[in-house]
Amino acid sequence: MAAKIYTITSGKGGTGKSIFAVNLAAAISGLAKKTLLIDADLGMANICLMLGLEDSKITLHEVLADEANVADALYDGPNGLKVIPSGLSLQGFKKADPAKLKDVIAEVSPNFEFIVIDTPSGINHVTASSIEICDEVIMVLTPEITSITDGSKMKAFSAMLGKEVAGIVLNRTMPEHDETYREKLASSVDLNVLEVLPEDASIPNSIIAKSPAVANYPYSEISIAMNRCAALLCGIKIPEPKEGKAQKNEKKRVLNTKIPFSQSKK
Ligand SMILES: Nc1ncnc2c1ncn2[C@@H]1O[C@H](COP(=O)(O)OP(=O)(O)O)[C@@H](O)[C@H]1O
Ligand SMILES: [Mg+2]
Repeated sequence: MAAKIYTITSGKGGTGKSIFAVNLAAAISGLAKKTLLIDADLGMANICLMLGLEDSKITLHEVLADEANVADALYDGPNGLKVIPSGLSLQGFKKADPAKLKDVIAEVSPNFEFIVIDTPSGINHVTASSIEICDEVIMVLTPEITSITDGSKMKAFSAMLGKEVAGIVLNRTMPEHDETYREKLASSVDLNVLEVLPEDASIPNSIIAKSPAVANYPYSEISIAMNRCAALLCGIKIPEPKEGKAQKNEKKRVLNTKIPFSQSKK
């Protein structure tokens, strides 16, 4: 059986694709589904940093360069998730052949129930392959005119490749982005909003911790939204957690974390 594949895209960079991909994949895996996360952003790989896999010797780069088997590029992530990271080096980027990406995904697909693919921003060949091979395209947009305009172009690009975008995830929303505002944004790209993710301090904190918010701050507002979205995409109903002591302690933990200017190892 082949996995259900979700490709995460956006037109504009920095909208939160990688953050969403990591948390969505970890949340789906947390629902006891065999899940794989692939970092197809070959040039600006971030997943390895977000999950503490930056020292991995064999990555998607080596697999796409025919230097390693895909089984050797599979790493353990949170909640039982499996991860194929891309490497950080430019040499790795240079030797990786993006034309092989589809074959690699097709090879691993029978071993999983769900695959989440993180892609580079904008229109390029890797994103095209990731769209062509997937079942559903999800766009992560921020509530800004630039992100929405670029999102419209990505929607058209996806349609050109024969895939309709399943919906958008509106990220980094602030209290002023009320329902009317969000509906206006969604209707301007003529797509459904699958989930709304707030600006949330647990995100920078989880990057420092090298562990996704859904694993490290499970009661944060954004983790609750990510879990809801994962359940929706898996067709599962989950109860919303009620505000209790654990949630209050977690909020304190988020507020008390000091974000360093440099994350480099001492
Ligand atoms: N909901 C959020 N709340 C706070 N910060 C966020 C949120 N989403 C993204 N970020 C920040 O934005 C940065 C860019 O996100 P990222 O997922 O790397 O974007 P992309 O993959 O689309 O380029 C992240 O490093 C993170 O610090
Ligand atoms: Mg990214």
